[in-house]
Amino acid sequence: MADTLTITDNRTGKTYEVDIKDGTIRADALRKIKTSDDDFGLMTYDPAFMNTASCRSAITLIDGDKGILRYRGYAIEDLAEQSSYLEVAFLLLHGELPNEAQLRKWSHEVTHHTFVHEFLRKSMEGFRFDAHPMGKLVSMLGALSTFYPEAKKVRDDKTRREQIVRIIAKMPTLSAWAFRHSVGRPYVYPDNELSYCGNFLNMIFRMAEPRFEPHPVLERALDILFILHADHEQNCSANAARAVGSAETDPYCSLAAASAALYGPLHGGANEAVLHMLKQIGSVSAVPEFIAGVKNGSGRLMGFGHRVYKNYDPRAKVIKKLAHEVFEVTGKNPLLEIALELEKIALSDDYFVKRKLYPNVDFYSGMIYQAMGFPVEMFPVLFAIPRASGWLAQWQEMLQDPEQKIARPRQIYTGADLRPYVPMSNRATKPAT
Ligand code: CMC
Repeated sequence: MADTLTITDNRTGKTYEVDIKDGTIRADALRKIKTSDDDFGLMTYDPAFMNTASCRSAITLIDGDKGILRYRGYAIEDLAEQSSYLEVAFLLLHGELPNEAQLRKWSHEVTHHTFVHEFLRKSMEGFRFDAHPMGKLVSMLGALSTFYPEAKKVRDDKTRREQIVRIIAKMPTLSAWAFRHSVGRPYVYPDNELSYCGNFLNMIFRMAEPRFEPHPVLERALDILFILHADHEQNCSANAARAVGSAETDPYCSLAAASAALYGPLHGGANEAVLHMLKQIGSVSAVPEFIAGVKNGSGRLMGFGHRVYKNYDPRAKVIKKLAHEVFEVTGKNPLLEIALELEKIALSDDYFVKRKLYPNVDFYSGMIYQAMGFPVEMFPVLFAIPRASGWLAQWQEMLQDPEQKIARPRQIYTGADLRPYVPMSNRATKPAT
């Protein structure tokens, strides 16, 4: 049996043979299918990349039908149970889990780049008091590029590695300061004796105490949430990081673009939207009416559905369990009952079952973050901090892939044919709609 596809073009009667590799055909193999010599050749049309692989990647595997997520071959459930976020970040970037010495070096490097330039602190002052922290994070990431002009040497391994360490190290600092600015509290400088997550909690919550002691359950819960959010293959923001980075833009600006993508309510903003939705529903008794509204098209059940998972998101399973552990410490989030009822009804309702809509990672994460004391505006920021390691791994893989070039999709032009220029005096008086 040949690994090829035979295509007959019914316009010309000609037959073509196209190679199949890894269950795909190369889109440019279709270019030889032409009706005449000056024909551009056949293209594929795939709005929103529904069935197009844009790269070869060895980082993350998702099997959406089976509900499987693996980083570099390791099951997400095992990593969540046994690893730390910094180990996972190393794994994503280097392909292997670090040994003891590597982890010590990696943690040391990340810990010693947590401070940001004081001028950046001044830039933060330029925002209005009510600026969304995610808007601030996007801007601060872009601003960081101006402090490290050498970062544009994206083909230089050493320079690239330095920026990777800096970004992973500074994400919690920028994020915490975006929060402190919003609430008018003084910025807290990194405490490098604490863990990655412990230090982040310190920079978020420390007030007058001489030394902040993170609660070990909450510190570990945050670490697990960071592991779960670290990468998710070619999602909207990873695609943004790769597409912008393909122009050899420096990693700070590429990650600013990725964060901007993550800011959208259909992507990383969904956990914020879930909380707003649960608040709006207000009580368990109002759930059936809300579900009926969703089915009638008046809105979406936020935190449900996924482009890839057509089964329970494996991250949602870990998070649901984690929620109970966190609530033991913080007290139960009153919205939990509404969420559980929504999940119960949706999972047994034909509308959701038929469309294979299951809870995704965002359904329970917001409730945990809220119980830990984070305001909803911080939720996408809490997604962006760990996702930085995934974006950087994707960005680096793109740069090292000899098959990649500047990302530049084709289009099907649907506009007017060439027409004579219309002088102002001859233009219609009614504005075009
Ligand atoms: N509530 C109600 N109906 C839904 C939902 C939902 N959350 N999601 C999809 N549908 C329906 C949709 O109306 C459509 O129905 P029909 O076939 O009758 O037109 C069908 O399911 C397929 O939906 P789609 O929009 O074609 O699916 P998609 O793959 O383009 O969208 C999604 C994926 C995540 C954008 C979408 O499910 C959604 O908007 N969910 C709510 C937002 C959300 O929770 N986003 C977080 C995603 S996970 C975090 C991340 O990785 O970014």
